[in-house]
Amino acid sequence: MPQACTYVVFGATGNLSLTKLMPAFYHLEEMGRLQEEVNILAIGRREWSREEWVKVAREAVSPKARGGINETVFKRFCDRLDYFQMDITDPAAYQALQKHVEDSNWSCNMAFYLSLGPDQFAGVVKQLGKSALLDETRGWKRVVLEKPFGYDSDSAKQLQLQLNQYLKEEQTYRIDHYLGKGMVQNVMVFRFANLMMEPLWNRNYIDHIQITHAEDKPIGTRAGYYDTSGAMRDMIQSHLLQLLALVAMEPPASMDAEDLRDEKVKLLKSIRSISKNNVNSQAYRAQYSEGTVNGKAVPAYLDEPGVADDSVTETYAALKVYIDNWRWAGVPFYIQTGKNMPKNKTLVSICFKHPPKQFFRDSQVKKMEPNWIVFGIQPEESIWIEMTAKQPGLEINTQQMSLNATMKKEGEQSNDAYEELLLDVIKGDRSLFLRYDEVKAAWKVVDPILQAWASDASYIDTYPSGSWGPAGSSKLFDSADQGWRYSL
Ligand code: BG6
Repeated sequence: MPQACTYVVFGATGNLSLTKLMPAFYHLEEMGRLQEEVNILAIGRREWSREEWVKVAREAVSPKARGGINETVFKRFCDRLDYFQMDITDPAAYQALQKHVEDSNWSCNMAFYLSLGPDQFAGVVKQLGKSALLDETRGWKRVVLEKPFGYDSDSAKQLQLQLNQYLKEEQTYRIDHYLGKGMVQNVMVFRFANLMMEPLWNRNYIDHIQITHAEDKPIGTRAGYYDTSGAMRDMIQSHLLQLLALVAMEPPASMDAEDLRDEKVKLLKSIRSISKNNVNSQAYRAQYSEGTVNGKAVPAYLDEPGVADDSVTETYAALKVYIDNWRWAGVPFYIQTGKNMPKNKTLVSICFKHPPKQFFRDSQVKKMEPNWIVFGIQPEESIWIEMTAKQPGLEINTQQMSLNATMKKEGEQSNDAYEELLLDVIKGDRSLFLRYDEVKAAWKVVDPILQAWASDASYIDTYPSGSWGPAGSSKLFDSADQGWRYSL
């Protein structure tokens, strides 16, 4: 049951807060999911009054409100809002923050959402800790950390050590918004609520698994962050390895946070480490050049404002991994992600092996297609199963047919991942948040690749904006007749 809570949003005037968090709070209000004593305190550097902040929040919520903004709902949402100006590097400001919350007479259950750059996490948590804002004598205190959690294994470890001084693991909510997406959760439900899947879900029947995340957008105004990150860190280390863990993990003992996270960690730890010599055969990187996306001419990555002239940061990354456990021995998993591709599309595609013998007459003359199960994660939300059946007619000839369960068509609106996650923080449910050992195991997978790429800054392949990435990434596949799948 949602409880009373004071949500303190650091970085409230930033992009994530305005495009995701405030609209998510508004929608929770609309759905009646916020208890009366939930309040939202925005922290920002600017000298704004509460009224000015409400105006900004309204501009942020308006374009995102499903079905248009509802004035009654907005009024209720607005009554929960307040603004507090502070310099987050100034220890005295935290005392003033403490006093401001006390004076407001708001709930002592407090969730601090750090919608900040990762280099600011340790400093803010230290000040929260020192100023007793994390003291749980009166009400619980929780801290939500946005990704990225570190820059590699070593920096993640350093960050964790710094956080450990002030924060208990039970107070730490490392967010990965992919875990709040309905179709990502559906991967788990489809696997574990249907008995007919389990006997097939292993190396005996599955040929390979692909995860594709394509975006039809460039990096936008985020060059400062992105140029030091790149697609491998930005998407694969976090969201896409989480997705892989859900597709491949063993059934958890329960849906409790620790049971679920134990299984994901076990899976991530079973990913075979990629040796320096294998980086070229198991990973691929490229950068978008100029081109046309959705009918509009767009510049090359190197011409984006804020990107270094000689940058070899990848805007496309692909990875092939093996999971060394009984279930998956020998089955390749392929992951790719890219910016400025023709469409937004996130798919998890399971390709099955061929039957041991093909004996229908037309199988002698045409290539028989394998079975596929494809999860459309976004924008279409669906589960698509491809099989072979008989063509109507007098002869026994085969054809591909599909069974499709569409949960949401492209363009239809659904809940945003942040809605559920913001609510889970209030409920104290950490099952969709990451434990440190998960983050650590995921860094271990990508560290060797990042190191190899960092040591060779002389060249990066390119792909035209508006194309499905570099042709070179298909070399990751085991056979020439395999390739990335983009369709449902
Ligand atoms: C973020 C990345 O975590 O996820 C962005 O930093 C990326 O670069 C985004 O665009 C993708 O999320 P979604 O929900 O739009 O698929």
